[in-house]
Amino acid sequence: MNIAVIGTGYVGLVTGTCFAETGNNVICVDNNEKKVKSLRAGKIPIFEPGLDVLFDRNTKEGRLHFTTNLPEAIENAQIIFLALPTPPGENGNADLSYIMGVARDLSGLITDYKVIVDKSTVPVGTAEKVSAILAEKLSKKLFDVVSNPEFLREGVAVEDFMKPDRVVIGASNERARKLMKQLYEPFVRQGNPIFFMDERSAELTKYAANAYLAARISFMNEIANLCEKTGANVDMVRIGMGSDTRIGKRFLFPGIGYGGSCFPKDVQALAKTASDHTYDFKILKSVMKVNSIQKGILTKKIKKHYKNELSGKTVGVWGLAFKPNTDDIREAPALVIIDELLALGAKVKAFDPEAMAHVKSIYGDRITLVDSMYAAIDGADCLAIMTEWSEFRNPDFERMSDTLRDKLIFDGRNLYDIDSMKEQGFTYVSMGRPKVRGKRRG
Ligand SMILES: NC(=O)c1ccc[n+]([C@@H]2O[C@H](COP(=O)([O-])OP(=O)(O)OC[C@H]3O[C@@H](n4cnc5c(N)ncnc54)[C@H](O)[C@@H]3O)[C@@H](O)[C@H]2O)c1
Repeated sequence: MNIAVIGTGYVGLVTGTCFAETGNNVICVDNNEKKVKSLRAGKIPIFEPGLDVLFDRNTKEGRLHFTTNLPEAIENAQIIFLALPTPPGENGNADLSYIMGVARDLSGLITDYKVIVDKSTVPVGTAEKVSAILAEKLSKKLFDVVSNPEFLREGVAVEDFMKPDRVVIGASNERARKLMKQLYEPFVRQGNPIFFMDERSAELTKYAANAYLAARISFMNEIANLCEKTGANVDMVRIGMGSDTRIGKRFLFPGIGYGGSCFPKDVQALAKTASDHTYDFKILKSVMKVNSIQKGILTKKIKKHYKNELSGKTVGVWGLAFKPNTDDIREAPALVIIDELLALGAKVKAFDPEAMAHVKSIYGDRITLVDSMYAAIDGADCLAIMTEWSEFRNPDFERMSDTLRDKLIFDGRNLYDIDSMKEQGFTYVSMGRPKVRGKRRG
């Protein structure tokens, strides 16, 4: 098939590349000239494991192209994907201006039948709005609008796209359904389902999934906080509850709050949709409140340890991205904590395997960015762990002990075994687990 993907960010680039991988001809469009130039030169502007192999193969074989020229990109396309940003708008609603703007552009360009697919996360009713814009200039025979929300996770996006747990397609028209089924069949050969439904249900499915996952995180964060108050250990509670098949083991790890480009804005947008429909979605409000408090909890622990005296202290930071295996720092909890530490007069020396260029563009020289995890703690008073990158999981503790001024770790991701930290004499403060008190130096 001939496919156009409009918007070549985290979702659009993975979508376009994976569709090319199954033999389609794909043209990706972006209005960011720099990005397109880099892609044309064979450089991927984001970090996403496994994407480079597919990208190289499909660009070399001439199935994957990049352009800034929208008319050229859609001319021969049978299906046009919208993978455009839907950032938070003024009142917490999803800002649909990118989607509607492109819909308007398309209405002046389409001359033969095309399926327009919303892959962006968009509120209930958006497919109808896009349809209405297209219908201002086009006969309804020339297009169908389909909702096909994307469930990929950054960091494992290629794997998620190539082998999705499910594909959700909101399409009321049979012709559009058939085309979408044909396109997605190679991705579900192992038997995972393609769910066909109406457009509204598909749109809401995406928000419901993300809001539920965010609620699970906030719930576990509150359980962890309660563990600290009661002397329980969240590791035990987590395995005890997660082995119940109705609950499941995944997504039960406490931490320093959810971040990223999706959960925060999607929970907010769903709450806004609810209030627009005069429904008071109380759980969502709590999920957001808990998350915002949770993002401050590691700083609170650091402040408590230093009795509010952080001026002149240097905090070594491991991890800046909102989660491992991505360079994405949108809404990353690490940034909130760094802001708080700087406001308290502390110095920050940080390392992240992939996200440092983005962080540098925000903080400039206000924090020190170094090129290795050990350099980040060299001469630092303590270590704060913000992102659970694999390379932080099994460090050289002896080297850490020699490098840090105090054997003091604040772990926002519960990476280490408590008993082992005790044996090695670290003071170790983690989430929802008993504090380990080591011996102070000097
Ligand atoms: N990132 C994720 O993990 C993820 C997962 C599932 C769904 N989503 C949803 O997918 C959508 C896109 O997210 P993303 O993370 O890929 O965003 P992104 O910001 O990484 O990418 C969006 C791209 O669209 C381009 N763009 C903006 N206006 C344009 C225009 N008029 N014409 C052409 N290109 C234009 C931008 O330059 C950018 O490259 C959002 O709705 C998001 O909620 C994201």
